[in-house]
Amino acid sequence: KLQPIEVGKKSAAWKAVDHHVMDNFIVGVGSGSTAVYAMERLALRVKEEGLKILCVPTSFQSRQIVKQLGLSLTDLEEHPQVDVAIDGADEVDYNMTLIKGGGGCLTQEKIVSSCSQNFIVIADHRKDSKELGQNWTKGIPIEVIPMAFVPVQRRLEKLGGTPVLRMAIAKAGPVITDNGNFIIDWKFSEVREWTVINQTIKMIPVFRQNRT
Ligand code: A5P
Repeated sequence: KLQPIEVGKKSAAWKAVDHHVMDNFIVGVGSGSTAVYAMERLALRVKEEGLKILCVPTSFQSRQIVKQLGLSLTDLEEHPQVDVAIDGADEVDYNMTLIKGGGGCLTQEKIVSSCSQNFIVIADHRKDSKELGQNWTKGIPIEVIPMAFVPVQRRLEKLGGTPVLRMAIAKAGPVITDNGNFIIDWKFSEVREWTVINQTIKMIPVFRQNRT
């Protein structure tokens, strides 16, 4: 029997798939535990309704699950235009600003979502917050190529808060993403201008840092 929180995740995921996926769709499938329920619903609809859909995975995890469930795989090389992407989130505020990447799969998730006509987020009530950081205390995950992690950490420190290199649990050393990169969890404080901060972080490689 499912725990109440799992019932919430499953019902959000099933509703998303039932309302937003149609026959012949290219579907981006997210990562994390909530997205698994969406993939299961997709598999059921394929079986029961004979839907012809192709799935673009956003991680090693979602690719494996798509295969296990017997769903058909594709990628952005074959299908650079995705009809709908369905994914979980770590936190969602009232403006639908999200924190993504608690499971470390943020980059591919963001790429697939950026290629989709429609992006549907499935989340249980724990993810709902008035202000980002209220529920998700682990910071904002930022994927960084390994050779750049110290300069990026230093640049993030200038924005305030604390950037922490995410360490692996079952291995000595940092978490390595599906893309061979590191993750910095930036524990921010008092940020409100999410669009500005998002752009600032993305532009770190573009602007030279003056000596201090
Ligand atoms: C994976 O990197 C994330 O972006 C997930 O979508 C997010 O962490 C939500 O995961 P759960 O559905 O397991 O809470």
